[in-house]
Amino acid sequence: MKVLFIGDIVGSIGRDTLEDYLPRLKRKYQPDVVIANGENAASGRGITKKIFQDLLFMGVDVVTMGNHTWDQKEIFDFIDDTDYLIRPANFSDDAPGKGMTSVTKNGHTLSVINLHGRTFLPPHDDPFKKVTELVNEAKELSPLIFVDFHAEATSEKIAMGWHLDGEVSAVVGTHTHVQTADARIFPNGTAYITDVGMTGPYDGVLGMKKEDVLYRFKTNMPVRFEVPKTGRSVLSGFFVELDNQTGKAISFERVYINEDYPFKG
Ligand SMILES: [Fe+2]
Ligand SMILES: [Fe+2]
Repeated sequence: MKVLFIGDIVGSIGRDTLEDYLPRLKRKYQPDVVIANGENAASGRGITKKIFQDLLFMGVDVVTMGNHTWDQKEIFDFIDDTDYLIRPANFSDDAPGKGMTSVTKNGHTLSVINLHGRTFLPPHDDPFKKVTELVNEAKELSPLIFVDFHAEATSEKIAMGWHLDGEVSAVVGTHTHVQTADARIFPNGTAYITDVGMTGPYDGVLGMKKEDVLYRFKTNMPVRFEVPKTGRSVLSGFFVELDNQTGKAISFERVYINEDYPFKG
């Protein structure tokens, strides 16, 4: 099975960039499953029903979330109606939605798990303990398991990679919006990258208008960050090919496209 993961989609530039490149990425990588992190898809804050549906229409199979899950209040009205939008599994048991789902493509089933870090982030339930429970459940379906660990600290993400080595097919980090160069396959077959990076404005600061962020750094004054609506864009992703029998990763490739790193078909 081949899986393409798209890092945090930020605002309309992120959505338009994905729409622009996804057909070419599908031709190049022939993914069976496309997963995208959509926690910033609505102007940098959460996701709406329309945007979620647009992502599915573009060819995304599963949307994962993160610390911005609840920013758009309408998510409470539709998250329980779909199997293809998941939020971090280690949120409270009382939170709406779910943290794991599965998709079957070409006769093979892939489970997708979303987790939230708790270093420099709110103190959610233990992601290490939670993921072990979910992996045991997922293994009943198939050894093909993909984890999006939405976390701030590189150390927490690397630790999760080791925690899950040989237990899942891939662990990708999201949230920092900057792609890391440490993609690898751990010794027991789990593909890993500390952060996939973002898909959105290329000339801002983590997807926000640079003027707003600079103002805050220079003055320490409160300012509401906005996502630019025009300008250059970046697309960040991670591709993995998995062995259907063992669930182990066979190969991987970082995907990083912008004017400095143009798409190569
Ligand atoms: Fe994000
Ligand atoms: Fe985030």
